[in-house]
Amino acid sequence: MSVPQDKKTAAGPQDAAVPAISIQGLVKSFGQVEVLKNIDLDVMPREVVCVIGPSGSGKSTLLRCVNMLEEPTAGKIFVGEHEMTDPDVDIDRARRSIGMVFQQFNLFPHLSVLQNLTVAQQKVLKRSKSEALQTARQNLERVGLAHRETAYPAQLSGGQQQRVAIARSLSMDPELMLFDEPTSALDPELVGEVLAVMKGLVREGMTMMVVTHEMAFARDVADRVVFMDGGYVVEEGTAESVIGNPQQERTQAFLARVLNPTSVQEGDEFTAPAGADRGAAAHAQPDPALDARFSRGQDNG
Ligand SMILES: Nc1ncnc2c1ncn2[C@@H]1O[C@H](COP(=O)(O)OP(=O)(O)OP(=O)(O)O)[C@@H](O)[C@H]1O
Ligand SMILES: [Mg+2]
Repeated sequence: MSVPQDKKTAAGPQDAAVPAISIQGLVKSFGQVEVLKNIDLDVMPREVVCVIGPSGSGKSTLLRCVNMLEEPTAGKIFVGEHEMTDPDVDIDRARRSIGMVFQQFNLFPHLSVLQNLTVAQQKVLKRSKSEALQTARQNLERVGLAHRETAYPAQLSGGQQQRVAIARSLSMDPELMLFDEPTSALDPELVGEVLAVMKGLVREGMTMMVVTHEMAFARDVADRVVFMDGGYVVEEGTAESVIGNPQQERTQAFLARVLNPTSVQEGDEFTAPAGADRGAAAHAQPDPALDARFSRGQDNG
């Protein structure tokens, strides 16, 4: 594992021994169609793994298998000590350590920001109202939205709604976070604020698995980049190697399309990844100002 020590504090020896996520021989079929074909992948504690690849390659299915939103056809999945694929596992309990953020924010439209953050804490974690409120406010602070706690989702921009969704996940005290294209539904000018919040989590040492088309983000924060195509992990390694110097032809072709969408010729075999147009082209430059604003007070390591 390559966790730069300037970015994160070192994991303890026990942390280092057990992967946060261990995916072993994972196969997933929908009917006759096999969409994940024998995937092996470990994510170590505090590691950030970005998953990239064309539309339909199985990225979301992989992420959804980790918390058993999809049931694997074969193979095993461990999250920390829990075997998620064990039929006897207490799946609700095992899932509690996993936060998930989707492309669509999935906030409750009829609840205020604060209520969106407290409801599951009280129902699932059985926290008292005051405890839930305190945790919620801490996490709104973390995503730069302390001043919007009484707003309703419809009164917020997409970027703000996604930051609320992240804060809601964090309020459940997850040990690891799964992100499935968290910025793909956003207008281009709102992408940076969400990525800045995610970078703050990286700096805090959160274990993260992120499906993204934001290549600049992946280069910046990923300890490891995994390129998927056709249900396989085709190539994996550091961001520098996979994005900067890909070895496999399919990785090269994908990156050429994503990093330079206008280069695609009429008649090229091409499945557009959702958000690819915004992904690399519009956001190749990180936004240091936003970064500073949203990470203030978080960067202790
Ligand atoms: N519930 C389902 N039933 C049947 N087929 C499905 C289901 N979910 C996904 N698939 C198929 O599995 C394949 C992989 O889908 P998946 O959503 O994992 O791809 P992806 O890499 O996340 O794509 P995108 O970049 O467009 O989000 C696709 O061919 C898709 O049509
Ligand atoms: Mg997907």
